[in-house]
Amino acid sequence: MNDVFMHNSHRLPVTFTGGEGVWLFDTNGKKYLDFSSGIAVNCLGHNYPPLVKAIAGQAAKCNHVCNYYQNDTTINFAQQLVAACAPGGMKNLFLANSGAEANEAACKIARKYSLKKYGPGRHTIVTLRGSFHGRTITMLAATGQDQFHKNFGPFTEGFTYIPGGDIEALEKALDAKTVAGLLIEAVQGESGIRPQSPEFIETAARLCAERDILLMFDEIQCGLGRTGTFLAFEQYRCGGKPVKADVVTLAKSLAGGIPAGAVLAGEKAADVFEVGDHNSTFGGNPIAAAAGLVVLETVNNPAFLAEISRKGEKIMAAIRDWHHPAVREVRGRGLMIGIDIDRSAWPVLEAAIARAGEKNCGLLILSASEKTLRLLPPYIISDSEIEQGLEILKELLG
Ligand SMILES: Cc1ncc(COP(=O)(O)O)c(C=O)c1O
Repeated sequence: MNDVFMHNSHRLPVTFTGGEGVWLFDTNGKKYLDFSSGIAVNCLGHNYPPLVKAIAGQAAKCNHVCNYYQNDTTINFAQQLVAACAPGGMKNLFLANSGAEANEAACKIARKYSLKKYGPGRHTIVTLRGSFHGRTITMLAATGQDQFHKNFGPFTEGFTYIPGGDIEALEKALDAKTVAGLLIEAVQGESGIRPQSPEFIETAARLCAERDILLMFDEIQCGLGRTGTFLAFEQYRCGGKPVKADVVTLAKSLAGGIPAGAVLAGEKAADVFEVGDHNSTFGGNPIAAAAGLVVLETVNNPAFLAEISRKGEKIMAAIRDWHHPAVREVRGRGLMIGIDIDRSAWPVLEAAIARAGEKNCGLLILSASEKTLRLLPPYIISDSEIEQGLEILKELLG
């Protein structure tokens, strides 16, 4: 491997030079079917012509204005993104560059909302065990997985974790005297594709409303159509009505491969940030905004979203139908799929890459926890590409 990079990641032995649709090509001219979307980023695949055109067009016009000013593309993108998230209760937004940054902004909003209304001491953010919220010191504190807490303390204070699905623990943790916000992924990604139960989300939404605790959904991996609805929490109900959030965070797929993040706020949270409270040099970058407009125009369409659900169901049904002895469980929503297997996932990922050398066609899949394979294919994948990828996966499981 190349020594120019810090050794902070396991990297598989492949170097890509380009891509087309759901295919990537390596330096040896071998091809790979992408069932990973760069971990839920390349939602429209690679080299998607309208995305390329929008990025190039914007680069030729203007690639940055600082936050003293505004630019037309970013305003257009922000308006369309807020409109797309309006069914979830969103009113306005702040544009960032990444998921961790969007979540940091969300936590700042929850703390200031609570401080202004109730005074000091009500600053705790509750998150879930198995969650993943980013790699900054504060977002590591928010992440409810001990494996990420080694070596980097002391962490930002004021985060507590409860097990997902544990309604009793939720009731207890959401203390109106000490808690400012609850931050949750409707479908946990990094810890193995785990959708929250309807009862858990309904209770969370009810208690947050009753106790004036901000309900914040981290939709960084599961949002933007990935689960078959524009936002994953839209599939949940509270008191017979669709759940409304106070804060939503987005990143990853937001600009189809160009770095972008967003924190969106509903009625309660929309006016919390005042001048000087928050900012980011690159947040709202015009090229990211131009790319984001293409993602929104393509994805936020009922027929397109229905196709994501259909394709996801097709993949999950096919894998279940194998009755393969290595497959323990298949779960997911839309094109966000976890497969528990009887062995470590990493060697399967290695074999999926090595297959390109042997048969000129590799498969890009992900892991999520030790024995879980994670599939996050681009939304534009065709039925025949799904079938081809599944054939390879079955072969790899032996
Ligand atoms: C649910 C969730 N939140 C936050 C993050 C952090 O996003 P970023 O890597 O853009 O900071 C991730 C990244 O995997 C994620 O899956």
